[in-house]
Amino acid sequence: MTNSSFHASGDSRMHVAGTGIDAPMMSVHGVRKSYRSGAGSLDVLCGVDLRLERGEFIAIKGQSGSGKSTLLHLMGLLDAPDSGEVRLAGERIDTLSSSRRDRLRNTSIGMVFQSYHLLPELSAMENVLAPLLVRYGVLDWIRFRSQARSRACELLERFGLGARMHHTPRQLSGGEMQRVAIARALVGRPQVLLADEPTGNLDSVSGAGILDTLGRLNREDGLSIVMVTHDDAIAARSDRIVRLVSGLVEDIGEPNDAVIVAA
Ligand SMILES: Nc1ncnc2c1ncn2[C@@H]1O[C@H](COP(=O)(O)OP(=O)(O)O)[C@@H](O)[C@H]1O
Ligand SMILES: [Mg+2]
Repeated sequence: MTNSSFHASGDSRMHVAGTGIDAPMMSVHGVRKSYRSGAGSLDVLCGVDLRLERGEFIAIKGQSGSGKSTLLHLMGLLDAPDSGEVRLAGERIDTLSSSRRDRLRNTSIGMVFQSYHLLPELSAMENVLAPLLVRYGVLDWIRFRSQARSRACELLERFGLGARMHHTPRQLSGGEMQRVAIARALVGRPQVLLADEPTGNLDSVSGAGILDTLGRLNREDGLSIVMVTHDDAIAARSDRIVRLVSGLVEDIGEPNDAVIVAA
C-alpha cells in the first residue's frame, strides 16, 4: 500500500525506529487471558505466542469457544491481556495509555468483524469516512476532506461498490456490507488487518468474494493480515495456518500441510 501525503501532520502512526525494522509486523508473547465464570475462572488463553511477519497472511483456526476472538481482540487492543505482551513493529502496545491505543487502532490496525458493525444511519461512503473524521477532528477535516473523500471513493470503487456509495447498510447485501467494512478498516492505511470470521455470515459466493479481496490486498498491497476462521477451506487461502487448542497456539504450517494434518 502506498504511503501518500495523506496523513495530517499530527498523525500518530507508529514510526518504526531502531530495532523495529527487523521486528515482525505484529507479535504476541506469552499472552494469558481468563474470564470469571461464577465462582471460578475460565482460562481461555494460556500463554499464546504468535508472530505475524510483514506481508504475511495468517489464518487462526480453532473450534467455537477456543479463544480466537479473544486473541484477535487483544491484538486489536480492544481488550488487555492478564499477562504477556502484544507488539507492533517491535514496540509494545498493550500497555499504552488508552488514548494512544485508540490512536493506534485508528491509524495502524484495521479490524473487520463477522457482523460488519456498520453504522446503520450512515451511507457506505460516510461509514468509510468515519475513522478519518475521528482522526482529523473538525479543523483538519476541512483541510483533508477532499483527499479523504477520494481515498474512500477509490476503495469503494476497487471493491465494486462504486454504484453503492450512497446506500445505507440496509440497502446492501451481506457481501457488500462486509466490503464496506473492509474499506472502512483500510481507509486510514493500516499496517495490519485483523479479520474475525469475515465470511461467517455470508453465503459461499459472497464469502469467496471477500476472500478474493483479502488475498488481493495481501498480494498486491503487501497488507499483513490475521484472519480468524473455523473453516478449513477458508483457512487454506492464507500463507500459514495456526490453530488454537486448549488455550495455546499450534503452528500447522502452510495450507497444503494442513490438509495432510487434517486427513
Ligand atoms: N467477556 C467475556 N466474559 C466471559 N467469558 C467470555 C467473554 N468473552 C469470551 N468468553 C468465553 O471465552 C471463551 C472463548 O471465547 P471466544 O474468544 O469468543 O471464542 P471463539 O472466537 O474461538 O469462538 C468462550 O468460552 C466464551 O464464552
Ligand atoms: Mg469468535
